[in-house]
Parts: sequence; structure tokens; C-alpha cells
Amino acid sequence: MPSHSRRASLKEQNTFAIETITPDLFCPTNIEELREIDRSILQHSYILGEGSNTLFVRENAPTIVSPKFKGINVEETHDAFHITVAAGENWHDFVAFCVENKYNGLENLALIPGSVGAAPVQNIGAYGVEIADYIESVAWYEIVSGQLKTMQKAECGFGYRESLFKRALLGKGIITEVALRLPKAWKPKLNYSGLDVLPSNPSAQQIFEQVINIRNEKLPNPLLIPNAGSFFKNPVIERKQLEDLLNGFPDIVYYDIDELNVKIAAGWLIDKLGLKGFVLNGAAVHKKQALVLVNQGVSSGMNIVQLAKHVQEEVLQAFGILLEPEVRLVDNNGLTEISELND
Ligand code: FAD
Ligand code: EPU
Repeated sequence: MPSHSRRASLKEQNTFAIETITPDLFCPTNIEELREIDRSILQHSYILGEGSNTLFVRENAPTIVSPKFKGINVEETHDAFHITVAAGENWHDFVAFCVENKYNGLENLALIPGSVGAAPVQNIGAYGVEIADYIESVAWYEIVSGQLKTMQKAECGFGYRESLFKRALLGKGIITEVALRLPKAWKPKLNYSGLDVLPSNPSAQQIFEQVINIRNEKLPNPLLIPNAGSFFKNPVIERKQLEDLLNGFPDIVYYDIDELNVKIAAGWLIDKLGLKGFVLNGAAVHKKQALVLVNQGVSSGMNIVQLAKHVQEEVLQAFGILLEPEVRLVDNNGLTEISELND
């Protein structure tokens, strides 16, 4: 049987350090233990990795299933390393393992908190790389059939902070393992500002270290200042809307996506409004990175939500852009939307 605790606090299991109580916490360590959890329980549970992209908003949380599967397997072919890694492994430790063994490719994704199992859910990305660039397939336990399915990359619907696991497959299964293909023909990816200071032809180890340096400079360490990274996604808007915005804000920061769309740096929008360092009832906009909201001593996740709503309203009023949370909001029944949370 999987480990099972009743009336468990989740304060240590979410990086916003919000106190909330789950009636039941299950921690399966393998598929057999997962299968032993009643299907109707799994269907109504929230799947929790390391809680670094989750904000609990009520005193009570739903039933939690937290997969603790461990293990890394590496197979080498003439042109690539094929690595399968279990959902319960820590993402950064896994990246460090790859860099140490010269399985290159993931170094730009150093120091992203959380579990391997959650990484495909929002297609984690940083410094010009997304996990989808290297995913071959994802092993996914389907609750209704009790079967383990292999989802090929093309079936996963990956996009910017997007995947099918957040959409059509939400609540229907649990990721148990991720299979990656790291080609031996490796080229460093240095387009992101901050990486261009490296010497020409840097090693993966040098990129890994530089990414850690940059991140440590601007992102708060959740162990010291509780947070969940970027609270909002960078909004994608049409070029027509960008042109209108450029009239009023010529220095707006944006990235080209395709002929029709651009992605706006939400941190710039929030910063432009002078909200960096703004505090509301113990929740704050981070001083060094305006896209990050931090917990400065609140006990209720609703205080963070109140600040998020304030930021949303200010940005909407000034720029006509509605920021969408990246962080998953969870009440006593499970996932919810910011627009549903009113007190
Ligand atoms: P959780 O918060 O536990 O879960 C996140 C989502 O995944 C939930 O919807 C959950 O139900 C689902 N889930 C978790 N495990 C499974 C599973 N096994 N099967 C199915 N669904 C599952 N993200 C980036 O992309 N890039 C960054 O640069 C980045 N920087 C960050 C910096 C900081 C300081 C922090 C705190 C967060 C940052 N994040 C970043 C967000 C976070 O690290 C990622 O979203 C990470 O993948 C979350 O992992 P987790 O295990 O903590 O997920
Ligand atoms: N900016 C400001 N003020 C700020 C913050 C940002 O003006 O307070 C402007 C700057 O011009 C900066 C630009 O916005 O050049 C982009 O900022 P940054 O490089 O810090 O990245 P970001 O767009 O804010 C995204 C991801 C991060 C990821 C970094 C690096 C999203 C929602 N966030 O942040 O991911 O680490 O790029 O690739 O896409 C996360 O998802 O939790 C996360 C931290």
C-alpha cells in the first residue's frame, strides 16, 4: 500500500509556504502502489509534485496524490543519449546529473524548482530552451482504465507554458516517467541576455553555472522568500495591438513569435506601473523581478490572490491586457480560476 496520512499539513510542500490541510495524502512510490489507490479517489485528487507552481487558497485542500517514483535510466545510441527519468525525481538534481555526465542539452533549465513529473505539464522553459525540445515521450497512468500509456511528444500538445496535461488530459491521469533524447551533436544556446557574456564555445557546465548565477541574482529563493516563480504568463498579443501600445510605450519589451503574434514581457508591464516592491496585506511584488509575487508572512493564499487581482486590474487598465496566472490555484475542491475567487 502507498504511504497514506490523514489530516496532513501541506505547508512544507508548497513553495508559497501556505498552511492548508488535506484530508488524505497519498505518496505512491511505484505503479503498483498507484493502482492500489481507489479510482474514485484518484479522480477527485490534486496531483502534487513539489508545489512550486501551486497556490493553495483555502484552509483546506483536496485529497492529494504525490508521486514519489524514483530512478534514472540512460541508454546510448550512436547519435544520442536516451534517458528515462521518474516523476518523483527533483528536476534540478536531474539536470545536474546530466551536466556532470556530459549528457548535454538541459543546462539552460538549471535551478528550475520542482519535480520531473510536473515539468511536461507546463512545458517548463528558461533561457531559450523548453523541456519539449528534448522530450521523446511521456509515460502517463490513465485513471479510468488503470493502464500506463506512452504519449509521444507530438501527442502532448506542447506550447509556451502549455500541454495537453493541462487541458484535455487534466484530472484524467498521472505522469509517471519522462523520456528524453539528448543528441550528441550539441550546440550551446546562448541567445538569452546574460548568457552572451560567456566565452565563445562554452561548455555545458559553464552555461549551467551561468544560468544558476543569473537566476540567483533576480529570482527569490523560495526557502528564504516563499514564492512560485513567475505568477503570470507572458501574454501573447496580436501585432496590431502591439502597434497601438508602441505609440504610448515605445520601450515596451516584446519578443517575436510569428507573423501575427508577439509575446510581451509581463514583468515590464508591472514594473512600468511602479509596482515593483508593492505590498498588500503581507503579499508583495518582488523587488528584483516584478513578475514574481512573494509571501512576506501571510498565512492565507487568498492574500496572494488579492495582490494578483490588484496587479491584473492595474495592467488591464493601463495596457488593455489581461494577465493570466501561470501558477495553479487550488481550493478545497481542486483546481480553480482566479476569476472564481472573490473573498
Ligand atoms: P507542482 O506545483 O506540484 O504542480 C504543478 C502542476 O503540475 C499542477 O497542475 C499539478 O497537478 C501537476 N502535476 C505535478 N506532478 C504531476 C504528475 N506527476 N502528473 C500529472 N500532473 C502533475 N517554471 C518554468 O517553466 N521556468 C522557470 O524558469 C521557472 N522558474 C521558477 C522559479 C522559482 C523560484 C519557482 C518557485 C518556480 C519556478 N517555475 C518555473 C515554476 C515551477 O518550477 C515549474 O512549474 C515546475 O515544473 C513545478 O514543479 P512542481 O513539482 O513543484 O509542480
Ligand atoms: N522586466 C522588467 N522588469 C521586471 C522584470 C522584467 O522590465 O521587473 C523586463 C526586462 O526587460 C527583461 C524582460 O522583462 O529583459 C524579461 O525578463 P526576464 O528575463 O526576467 O524573464 P521573464 O519574461 O520575466 C520568463 C519566464 C521565467 C524564466 C525567464 C528566463 C514566464 C512567465 N517566465 O520570465 O520563468 O525563468 O523568462 O527564461 O515565461 C516561471 O515560469 O516561473 C519563470 C520564472
